[in-house]
Amino acid sequence: MSLDPREFRNALGRFATGVCVITTNPEGVTPFGMTVNSFASVSLDPALILWSIQKDSDCFETFKTADKFAVNILADDQQDISNLYAKKGEHDLTEGTFRQGSSGVVVLKEAMSSFECTIDARHDGGDHVIIVGRVQEMTNHPAERNPLVFFSGKYRELK
Ligand SMILES: Cc1cc2nc3c(=O)[nH]c(=O)nc-3n(C[C@H](O)[C@H](O)[C@H](O)COP(=O)(O)O)c2cc1C
Repeated sequence: MSLDPREFRNALGRFATGVCVITTNPEGVTPFGMTVNSFASVSLDPALILWSIQKDSDCFETFKTADKFAVNILADDQQDISNLYAKKGEHDLTEGTFRQGSSGVVVLKEAMSSFECTIDARHDGGDHVIIVGRVQEMTNHPAERNPLVFFSGKYRELK
């Protein structure tokens, strides 16, 4: 069967996801963030997660050299943060919105939860590279909040 690319893309979009910002600060790079919804949990023991990056992304080079990153899960009142770090060429983290996590990687202060990871593996995934992270530290925001949901190309509220 040959897949119609647009129909395939639309069908994949029917899988509702959360939204995260992947942050990193390799040496010589301004603290950096990129919005993704490809985040998934992989393993509890060892603690592994994954996300994938498009090979033609401007961010690709940064993550090729990085050895750690953080996954920052966004809440439903953080759509502006998602939009900000999804803009082409605008990936510098905004002053005052991030802190240095205990593993040394930058973390968004107001994320619902953040996972500080070292890169465990990179796997080729067609036009993406799958990055597997080993979680070294975790921060959970104390307040009860709802996640930002992405479905069918739009942000949604959890009802
Ligand atoms: C909700 C949402 C989810 C996204 N998920 C991914 C993703 O999982 N992987 C990826 O490479 N890009 C993803 N993107 C696109 C990047 O955030 C980024 O905007 C885009 O790559 C901008 O171009 P640049 O990376 O060349 O600067 C997503 C964008 C949005 C708005």
